[in-house]
Formats: sequence, structure tokens, C-alpha cells
Amino acid sequence: MLILAIESSCDDTAAAVLEDDRVLRANVISSQFDVHARFGGIVPELASRRHIEAIWPVVSQALDDAGVTIADIDLIAATRGPGLVGSLLVGFTFAKALALVRGIPCVGVDHMAGHLLSIRLEQEYPAFPYTALVVSGGNTSLFRVTGPTTFALLGRTRDDAAGEAFDKVAKLLDLGYPGGPAISEAAAHGDPEAIRFPRAWLGEDSLDFSFSGLKTSVVNHVHRCRQLGQPLEVADICASFQEAVVDVLVEKAIRATRQSHCRTLVLGGGVAANQRLRRRMRQRCQEEDIVCCTPSPVFCTDNAAMIGIAGYHRYLQGHTVRPDADAYSRSPLN
Ligand code: KG4
Repeated sequence: MLILAIESSCDDTAAAVLEDDRVLRANVISSQFDVHARFGGIVPELASRRHIEAIWPVVSQALDDAGVTIADIDLIAATRGPGLVGSLLVGFTFAKALALVRGIPCVGVDHMAGHLLSIRLEQEYPAFPYTALVVSGGNTSLFRVTGPTTFALLGRTRDDAAGEAFDKVAKLLDLGYPGGPAISEAAAHGDPEAIRFPRAWLGEDSLDFSFSGLKTSVVNHVHRCRQLGQPLEVADICASFQEAVVDVLVEKAIRATRQSHCRTLVLGGGVAANQRLRRRMRQRCQEEDIVCCTPSPVFCTDNAAMIGIAGYHRYLQGHTVRPDADAYSRSPLN
């Protein structure tokens, strides 16, 4: 079965072509950094408008790269939520319209499900069950994944997502958008022990996260330095902030894997592209005799290939959508 997958939940317009859930024939991503960079964050209205301009060129490119035409496609899968509704509606409506015209089925996919299965885009991937940490700009959640459509939530953030904290701290330090890569680049030249920022453990067994206190602590530190006329050690602030985020993500993910009796831990989401997180997670997993699986960075950040995999399995379970199906901003999985 040849699948055309579409993703437009936030600020990337993406399309992919897959054969079942096995062969990725094309994977195209058009990012909007140029549109949002000067605002230091995503402007939803501008994001939707750029999706409208980008959707057809991106889909056409994916079909060309795969060496097929729209007439060869058997199934269309598109992100239905969560995300910015204006952005989601562009990709989801486009997908439903194309499917209607062609007379082929369309499935709506939860973006979180895509991240939970993105490891299956790698040549080698783990068997179910596994524990998964999805850590992105909109979510920081832990799941027990028992099959391609069965996910049990173990814990989630009570306030900011980790990626959101990266973006806000980067904005405070004038490092630009997106903040994650900018912070991790600056952190490479800093001392992670320079400033002791707080870690929110939220109790001994808790699998929930909280990053707003950490963010406030960075804001207070920066304001104090500015008030006292002290030089801002940006590299040290970035390294110390990143270390505080990584410490909590690593320990909670290990805790979740133990509590859910899994032997494998899988990462997903944009922040999972962070090299410090990947290294520290692999080290801790080795110590705990847990298999750590990290998708390639290109499959961590938003992409349509993961939506194709999740969509294929939803289709096998009969979950097609009608033309009047709506997008949603909050995930029922979370
Ligand atoms: O998964 P994603 O592409 O989009 C969402 O669904 O949110 O994740 C984007 C988030 C942004 O907050 C971005 O700053 C963060 O992932 N990010 C990173 C890195 N690359 C992207 N955070 C830390 N280190 C990185 N290398």
C-alpha cells in the first residue's frame, strides 16, 4: 500500500511517501524559521498562511522524490491534532479534499502517536512493549507503548513543555528561534555546573514534569546580573539550564521504564535531537541495563514520515475519517 502522509501541526509543512510502514520513499520538510525568527516564537496566523503557500509544493516534491503521481497513492494520512488549529486545518483539510477527489481513504493521525512510533523509521527498531519519552515544543510526556495504536500515559508536564522552556530561555538571552539548537550550541562552550538551577522532582515516584520554576529561576538570574551590571555568562547559563532539563528528563525516563517493567526506552520529539540529552540518556540506560533507542535527529523533529507509520496502523484498524471530520488542539492521548 502506498501512503501519502502530511504534517502541518505547528510551523513545519511536511509530506512523505511510504510503502506500508516499511519503506520510506520520500520525506520533505519545509520549515518556517524565516517567518517566525524575528518574533522570537511562532505567530499562529503567519504559520497557517505559510502552510497554505507551502502545502502543494511540498506534497508535489514528495511525490516527485518517490517517483510516483497522486494516482498511485492508496491512502492519505494527515495530522489531525494536537497543535495550532489554524495550521492543522490546512494540512488536514488538504488531505481530506485530495482523498475525496481521488476516492481513496483518509486517516487522521494524532501527532503524539507519530512521535511514539518514529523509532520505526530506523532500520532497526525495538519490539513492543517499550517506554517512550516524547519531549517537544508542545509536550513532555512519558508513555508505555504496547502496540502501534496502544499507548498508556505515565506522566506529563504540569506546565511548560521542555522545548517551550528552551525557546523561552533562548528568547530571554536573544539567541533567536528555535531556541533548542541555539541553547545547545552555546552550552557546548559553557560549564554545566556554573549555576545551580532548580530541578523539579515533584515527589519520589512522580512521573510528571514541571519546567516553569526552572524558567523563572533563569529569568531571575539574568535580571539580577543585568541590575548589578555584571557580565552575562551566556554559555554558562545555557549549559547550566540545559543540564537541569536533562537531569530531570533522564531520571524520570529511567524511573518510568522501571515502574512500567519495560527493558527498552525510546525517545521522540524535537528536544530528543539534543546531543547532551542523547548522550546522558544512553549512559544512564547502560548503567541500568536498559536498551536506549534514539531516532535520527531528522525523525525527532516534526516530520510526515512518522505520521505515515501511525496512519497506516490506524487504517488497518478501520479508523478512516469523513470529509467533515474536524482537527483538535489537545491530544486525547495526553
Ligand atoms: O517536535 P518538534 O519539532 O515540534 C513540536 O511538535 O513541538 O519540537 C520542536 C521543539 C522546539 O521547542 C525546539 O526548540 C526543540 O524542539 N529542539 C531542541 C533541539 N532541537 C529542537 N531542543 C533542545 N536541543 C535541540 N537540539
